[in-house]
Amino acid sequence: MSDFFRVAKTSEIPKGGKKLVEVDFLPVAIFNIGGEYYAIEDVCTHDGGPLAEGELENEEIVCPRHGARFNVKTGQALCMPAFEDVECYEVKIENDKIYVSVD
Ligand code: FES
Repeated sequence: MSDFFRVAKTSEIPKGGKKLVEVDFLPVAIFNIGGEYYAIEDVCTHDGGPLAEGELENEEIVCPRHGARFNVKTGQALCMPAFEDVECYEVKIENDKIYVSVD
């Protein structure tokens, strides 16, 4: 069974918002897309850029280092210079709190 860690309250991340958290020693970026929450590893697969510091455009995060884009719902790499997808993590909401599993 997955271990879920509490990372934030839903009120801390409004629609279109993002937050960097740490889950089991991993940096994880949490996003609110239209009221749904998504989590990806906060490490760009191109050269380790901090994705949570990038611009969120709809459901795409733009790496602040060299402009690679990732879909925050799936972790899919969408354009160069990144070729590999980022890890995507399971999220659940309970009583207005956000939980993430990095298993
Ligand atoms: S580190 Fe993200 S695009 Fe280069």
